[in-house]
Amino acid sequence: MLKLKKVDAKMNLKQLAGIEAAKFVKDGMIVGLGTGSTAYYMVEEIGRRMREEGLRITGVTTSNATKEQAEKLGIPLKSIDEVPVVDLTIDGADEISADFQGIKGGGAALLFEKIVATYSKETIWIVDSSKLVDKLGKFPLPVEVIPYGSQQLLHIFEEKGFQPVLRTDENGEVLTTDGGHYIIDLHLEVIEQPESLATYLDELVGVVEHGLFLNMVSKVVVGSEKGVEILDAIRRK
Ligand code: A5P
Repeated sequence: MLKLKKVDAKMNLKQLAGIEAAKFVKDGMIVGLGTGSTAYYMVEEIGRRMREEGLRITGVTTSNATKEQAEKLGIPLKSIDEVPVVDLTIDGADEISADFQGIKGGGAALLFEKIVATYSKETIWIVDSSKLVDKLGKFPLPVEVIPYGSQQLLHIFEEKGFQPVLRTDENGEVLTTDGGHYIIDLHLEVIEQPESLATYLDELVGVVEHGLFLNMVSKVVVGSEKGVEILDAIRRK
């Protein structure tokens, strides 16, 4: 199903998607709060609805950055270990294929994002239209690894022709995730078989998690020049 709403000229496309998705949040929900520049707008909108409309929710954050933002907005928070289940998670994505598989982790939060999404009844992704692709893989696939042994994994990925790059921060230091791990970005160009690549990565010792989010999303809210589209994904989990 596809619904279109008009673009507000003053809003950017990420903001449009974030604000639209926040409408799916209902009073009393436990809400998984994603990470990144699109999720930022959704969290701000939830904060606004709490202030102005009296919406009450409990948030479960997916990164230290989102936790900081949510705390500033006065959103009550619990950790994923303190809730029975998350009602709805809203998060950004780096690429979404035509069959609604995703790459996430451009902002290095993929591990906590995947944990929160896994224990959610429903997951919505919010993106601008540039994130919609036919097949995954142009966006480098992030793989979160334990620092100990990470050079061995880099060699393995090199030999496989995955063009691995150990992610660094703005100071050129090796980036450390909120979970204390490293990220290796795989420059694959195209991923023909996401399921088998996911299984391969899942089985490698030292890999904590990877950015292939398969069969996890039920709706995608897309901000485009034409308006906001809400795409219903087939949930195959
Ligand atoms: C964080 O690790 C990511 O999974 C983000 O959700 C993803 O990179 C999308 O980020 P933007 O909304 O900033 O593009």
